[in-house]
Amino acid sequence: KKKGDFSGRKFLITAGPTREAIDPVRYLTNRSSGRMGYALAAAAVARGAEVLLISGPVALERPRGVEVYPVQSAEEMYQSVMSLKDKADIIIMCAAVADYTPVTCAEHKMKKQERLRIDLTRTKDILAELGKDKQAFLAGFAAETQNLEGYAKDKLSRKNLDMIIANDVSGPETGFDSEYNAVSIYTEKGAAVHLEKDTKRNLADRILTEIAKNI
Ligand code: C5P
Repeated sequence: KKKGDFSGRKFLITAGPTREAIDPVRYLTNRSSGRMGYALAAAAVARGAEVLLISGPVALERPRGVEVYPVQSAEEMYQSVMSLKDKADIIIMCAAVADYTPVTCAEHKMKKQERLRIDLTRTKDILAELGKDKQAFLAGFAAETQNLEGYAKDKLSRKNLDMIIANDVSGPETGFDSEYNAVSIYTEKGAAVHLEKDTKRNLADRILTEIAKNI
């Protein structure tokens, strides 16, 4: 057995964006780099945990000792999470899952038009689904550009989470597509924990320490 405060623990972590196909050559996505989720996976392994990492398309090296499950779309991420969730006792949904996906994907490359409308439909909320029948410690992320605390606490209770990690993505210095982040952590009972700007790898360790206090 590996040494560390998470020895014997099994994590399921999601990371990165998803891609929602419009036609064979086009997709909708977002600015997530996957760095925060990969940092959490690396930190958990270094502290003795077994880690399953479900990753959207990212340009990052696979962290050593982590089992990676690559996915593309929100639907694929949903299927992958559902098939692996029973193996984990700690689940961290760090992925920036697309909230909308095209109603249909065109079979052929769409020709240019003066104006184009693409009908979108909502994707499944994976985290909310996990919260309905909670079997593991469940942590989510909330990326906001305003009212960070209010929206984060709302997600904590609405999705039945044990922890929500909120980051302000309005600035250019932290959050999406950055080496750095700054987060506030909320749990149902404990006081809020504010972690100042730091590398995502250092923040990952501090987030894991907060998780350790709450399991
Ligand atoms: O509601 P919102 O999308 O802001 O919530 C963010 C949290 O929910 C993140 O942990 C994200 O991974 C998760 N999420 C999800 N499935 C979705 C959308 C978000 O699991 N379709």
